[in-house]
Amino acid sequence: MDIEQNVVTTLVEAAREVRNNAYAPYSGFRVGAALLAEDGRIIVGCNVENSSYSLTCCAERSAVFTALSAGIAAFHAVAISADGKAVPPCGACRQVLSEFGPELTVILDDPSGTPRTLSLVNLLPEPFTPDFLKK
Ligand code: THU
Repeated sequence: MDIEQNVVTTLVEAAREVRNNAYAPYSGFRVGAALLAEDGRIIVGCNVENSSYSLTCCAERSAVFTALSAGIAAFHAVAISADGKAVPPCGACRQVLSEFGPELTVILDDPSGTPRTLSLVNLLPEPFTPDFLKK
């Protein structure tokens, strides 16, 4: 969880900005996520809902899938920004994030204070990993 303060600020700002693009007409709950790749690049994503509600994709997974589509598959940190409060990633997103950043630092934007910094290992202590698939 060694991350410089200016990097935290940059990631939170990127997550806030992409939150403006959220497509959330059903919940009204807009979320933005900004991943810091191992090579220093920042990749963003927002939540995208659908009239068939269960097809919704969270901001964190949007960011991961965008990154993978661009050939970026290893991450140091993710910042998450939601409307009005510090929001941790849902269980499904924890699992997806852990595949590409098992030691990820998770930064939660807090509009009423300083960002919270957590570690994915604490949020998902026993992920399902590719090792379990080995015969
Ligand atoms: N959502 C996210 O984008 N990330 C999370 O970690 C939690 C929930 C979105 C999904 C849905 O569009 C809205 O928030 C309400 O659940």
